[in-house]
Amino acid sequence: MDSLMSLNFPLFLPFNLLLALLVLLLIYGTAVVIYNVYFHSLAAYPGPKLNAASMIVKSYHVYRGTQAQYYAELHKQYGDVVRVSPKELSYITAYAWNDIYGFRQGHQEFNKLKFLDPDLGPSILLVDRTGHQRMRRLISHAFSEKALREQEPLIKKYVDLLVNRLRETNGEPTNLVAWYNFATFDLIGDLAFGEPFDCLKDSSYKPWVTILFDNLKEFIYAISAIELFGNGLAKLLPLIVPESLLRNRKAHVALTKEKVAKRLKNGTERPDFMSYILRHNDEKGLTHPEIESNSEVLIVAGSETTATLLSGATYYLLRNPRVMKKLVEEVRSSFTREEEIDLNGVNRLVYMLAVLDEALRIYPPAAGSITRVVPEPGDTVGGKWLPGGTHVAVSHLAAYRSPKNFKDPDSFVPERWLGDPAYADDNKAVFQPFNMGPRSCIGRNLAYVEMRLILARVLWNFDLEMMPESENWTDQKCFILWEKNPLYVKLSPVNQ
Ligand code: HEM
Repeated sequence: MDSLMSLNFPLFLPFNLLLALLVLLLIYGTAVVIYNVYFHSLAAYPGPKLNAASMIVKSYHVYRGTQAQYYAELHKQYGDVVRVSPKELSYITAYAWNDIYGFRQGHQEFNKLKFLDPDLGPSILLVDRTGHQRMRRLISHAFSEKALREQEPLIKKYVDLLVNRLRETNGEPTNLVAWYNFATFDLIGDLAFGEPFDCLKDSSYKPWVTILFDNLKEFIYAISAIELFGNGLAKLLPLIVPESLLRNRKAHVALTKEKVAKRLKNGTERPDFMSYILRHNDEKGLTHPEIESNSEVLIVAGSETTATLLSGATYYLLRNPRVMKKLVEEVRSSFTREEEIDLNGVNRLVYMLAVLDEALRIYPPAAGSITRVVPEPGDTVGGKWLPGGTHVAVSHLAAYRSPKNFKDPDSFVPERWLGDPAYADDNKAVFQPFNMGPRSCIGRNLAYVEMRLILARVLWNFDLEMMPESENWTDQKCFILWEKNPLYVKLSPVNQ
């Protein structure tokens, strides 16, 4: 009997232990859910109970690439402020822009989610507040009005090349998304690394560019995993992110380092980003790893965003012949020769600016929510106190497609930006496609110049016709930026 007992004991104990652990886990899980839904400091905010209970619903949409669209639906149902996960509130109001992202007298800046890139040094996009002020000061020289004027010939070179390559399509349907990407990558590649990727020349995406989307996916998976499990996650990342994405990330980082080393070794007299940054690189300047990480960020932030907006604007123009006709008339009647379409020339195109703004509203390139964390011990948003650690954001897509903010939110009406009385009640203050405050887009002016020059030159040179297979082009997923389908368009040359 004794010997039997001693034989059974080791088997019996783990089973009981397992059971006890499971029961404890269940009790703990239930307690967390009950606390989250009924007793949490955010319990009074509207939103689905399932979202309040756990991160599962939000994480599901992040992984599926449907978070931005899902938040837009939630806001239609629940109003201006929605509790989208246990500790996160989503807003679609103008006051939230100011309180969450803006400069507020007597308030601490709300932090970004902490994320340490294990492969590259800290960049302007992710660095903490003190580091950010230093980096922003150094990098902003490359984005001054003066720098932009000096960079104009470089920008023109790639717009010329784009138009020439489009002429070679000879009226055959072509994927404009790819061409816009080629042009913006080559331009930003040249500005950041001192040489283009040669996408336009070879009509193809290059390795650095191809793996960019995987990088964005890896980044968003990492951010959402940090939200789920907290920091210290870097070590867990390989378990969560597919191996192919991690492999591509390594390749991307290696290529970035190689390109930075080459640019620094070769030097240049041209006004690229690096020359401005190096010119002001005193003892508080950017270190070598910081130059690498910021070069990567400048390319990612500055190319895909602009190409996305150009693709969206083209799609909505093609879906709205009235608007297309009006814009084409503006472009073709404002200049007598193509050479006049320069930085000063496009600045005068009033309808063009309204078209681009309407495209930014209906199809914002950064469509989702850029989370900020309320600093300890807490602060107010919209006059309501939130405890430190609460995640808050304004969702671009949800704010711009809300009927509470814009009349006919799903219609493409540039006139709303030109004082049309029918749209007088639109809530324009909520429109912040480049964000606001100390961490707003540093490349906003460059983006407008690029978008205006490219669109004006395309419409000056070609009549556009959309192919039937691209009719539902906007059915897309979004991983920080939209995962764009091809946009097949027939370009017929116009003899001016
Ligand atoms: C239509 C085009 C663009 C859109 C919609 C856009 C949008 C944004 C947004 C929403 C942010 C805030 C991100 C955050 O808070 O985390 C941002 C930041 C940034 N953007 Fe852009 N962007 C565009 C073009 C560009 C261009 C052309 C560049 C330059 C190469 C650029 C460089 C940056 C940088 C460096 C930041 C980080 C700024 C900081 O943290 O201080 N962007 N952009």
